[in-house]
Amino acid sequence: MIKSDNKIIIAIDGYSSSGKSTLAKEIAHLLNYKYIDSGAMYRAITLFALRNNLINPKDHSIDEEKLRNSLNAIHINFKYNSQKNSQDTYLNDDNIEDEIREMTVSNNVSFISKIGFVRHEMVRLQQEMGKEKGIVMDGRDIGTVVFPDAELKIFMNAKAEVRAERRYLELKEKNIDVSYEEILENVRKRDHIDETRDESPLKKAHDSVELDNSNMDRKEQLEHIIGLVKERIKEA
Ligand code: DC
Repeated sequence: MIKSDNKIIIAIDGYSSSGKSTLAKEIAHLLNYKYIDSGAMYRAITLFALRNNLINPKDHSIDEEKLRNSLNAIHINFKYNSQKNSQDTYLNDDNIEDEIREMTVSNNVSFISKIGFVRHEMVRLQQEMGKEKGIVMDGRDIGTVVFPDAELKIFMNAKAEVRAERRYLELKEKNIDVSYEEILENVRKRDHIDETRDESPLKKAHDSVELDNSNMDRKEQLEHIIGLVKERIKEA
């Protein structure tokens, strides 16, 4: 445990399955900080849209007006699950942690997360969560849009094949039936949409520290980042 009265904000951005959440959780645990998976919030809205037929999973067309009018009926929160020693995502008090990781949500989430009013609302909620600092948040626009003044910004990347292999093993472990090729295609497609969308495209903040972990294990990554965390806490 790293103890300090100086609380900072740690923003971790990067490509899908680049290991952001694993690293973010480990850092949050060491610092006794709040961890927020912002991707889970976009996934939760996507699940809501799918359940309410606001997005067509075949052509990804969206009823934007209905979705906009439904925003105040969507309540997303996180609750600690002691059995898993991690957080579960809730949508209107329904535990949706497993469902939001399934391919139906993965294949539709980029279409929901590129909508301006959806991003606007998510950013507002995320900023609210970080008001007291002492938070580690991961996503795509955390260091650029949500917390542009974060004391530590990390930008993570790894080769698409390495990321697809990681996601494949993760889903296999959860007994979700999916092929490696399907995941690689989904990873590439999401990279493209995330990088080229008009609203807050995925890009490295000029003041972030880049971490390519294609050839790094978890321990090496954590040691590297912990060094930076200690520096930034002292400066805060
Ligand atoms: O991190 P993830 O793969 O669970 O994120 C799911 C999707 O949500 C991803 O395709 C991009 C989007 N996302 C986003 O646009 N902005 C964020 N801050 C987090 C995720």
